Amino acid sequence: MKLHLLEKDKRYIWHPYTQMKDYEKEEHILIVRAEGMRLYDSKGRVFFDTISSWWCNVHGHNHPMIKEAIKRQLERLEHVIFAGFTHENAILLAEKLIQIAPSNITKVFYSDNGSTACEIALKMSYQFWKNIGKKKKETFISLELGYHGDTIGAMSVGGIPLFQEKFSRLLFSTHKVPSPYCYRCRFGKERDRCKLECIEPLENLLKERNEEIAGIILEPLLQAAGGMIIYPVKYLKRVAELTKIYHVHLIIDEVATGFGRTGKMFALEYGGIKPDFICVSKGITSGYLPLAATLTTNKIYSAFYDDYIKNKTFHHGHTYTANPLATAAAVASLKVFEQEGVLGKISKLIPIFHQEMERFKELPIIGDVRCIGMVGALEIVKDKNTKSLFPVKERIGWKIYKEGLKEGLILRPLGNIVYFFLPLCIKSDELYQVINRTYKILVSI
Ligand SMILES: Cc1ncc(COP(=O)(O)O)c(C=O)c1O
Repeated sequence: MKLHLLEKDKRYIWHPYTQMKDYEKEEHILIVRAEGMRLYDSKGRVFFDTISSWWCNVHGHNHPMIKEAIKRQLERLEHVIFAGFTHENAILLAEKLIQIAPSNITKVFYSDNGSTACEIALKMSYQFWKNIGKKKKETFISLELGYHGDTIGAMSVGGIPLFQEKFSRLLFSTHKVPSPYCYRCRFGKERDRCKLECIEPLENLLKERNEEIAGIILEPLLQAAGGMIIYPVKYLKRVAELTKIYHVHLIIDEVATGFGRTGKMFALEYGGIKPDFICVSKGITSGYLPLAATLTTNKIYSAFYDDYIKNKTFHHGHTYTANPLATAAAVASLKVFEQEGVLGKISKLIPIFHQEMERFKELPIIGDVRCIGMVGALEIVKDKNTKSLFPVKERIGWKIYKEGLKEGLILRPLGNIVYFFLPLCIKSDELYQVINRTYKILVSI
């Protein structure tokens, strides 16, 4: 029966971000249940979910409180149109999100995945300037190596050539500024001593062209898909200052970093910044159901608020907006944060995790070790002195992925970056196992 299922998988399914020729050759893994950070397959094998099932799972799989909340909601209402109608969990969740967001955030616009959360922020920003008569403010700034999703708008503000280049003619043009990628600083500076030379192109651009620029979008402190690039708080703070000076919107994409992943509820808290938009998804339901939200301010909201005839309405919406089951899961997930004191607990484990990560530095193929909260990355290099990479055809990441599976680890390197995106429910013995097994792989690769 199980084998039969896998044959059907091969026959009917096209998996995301997967070269199906590779996939077909490999043994397929059928996950049948999960508990905490462990995934169990049909053959009884156990895998540590070190990447939180694509960065979503926060409190572990099969959490009783979240499960119960979904079941309770299922007895009452599974879905309802969200235009003209509303429901309890959407309201409770919005109230809660506003409580935990910076104090200038007052409104929540729901959708159902991270790409749309970002596209909504872009569209709102764009229309805001039109609604208030600043019609020339039509372009956006984004960062090289930034990632905001795979839909056309989200890709337009993306900065990962591998994902976007093929589609370049479909994308709208944006201004790209350098990534604050300290390990490979193109200005030859060192992280702790630099004067943020990498921000100068952004500053110059804003000085010269702020009249045409609607906003800047970036991931706070962690450019995740771009290679788990962790950049200094001073960079984030300076970007926020510049957006105020030059009157452009600050769009903070917390899709990956939100909900405790970096050690705080939102990564933006490290900078004490107050953006015009915050995009959230992934961890919002702790990975139980798809949901996203774009949070914004009264200032933005007010520019859309008028008589219908004036055509200032935000004409945007998705069918599954604020799905009742998903919002129930999100409300429950935020309760888990409070009742289990998750951020307090994890603050004790974070220093241990970071210290353990230091061990990798002794390996000849590890060029850089970087960590924030429960995210840690190892940059694989062929030569530490030159920081040169292994040739693409050697497929080092793919080899590590396959060795990981043999060791009971779901590792999913981003090219030459091996990373952990650990669920906050991880226990210290699990943490040591994850580190030790990864060490064993990297020592012998
Ligand atoms: C920072 C960031 N923004 C947006 C997205 C897109 O989210 P989704 O895959 O849910 O569309 C991702 C996904 O990895 C992300 O990491």
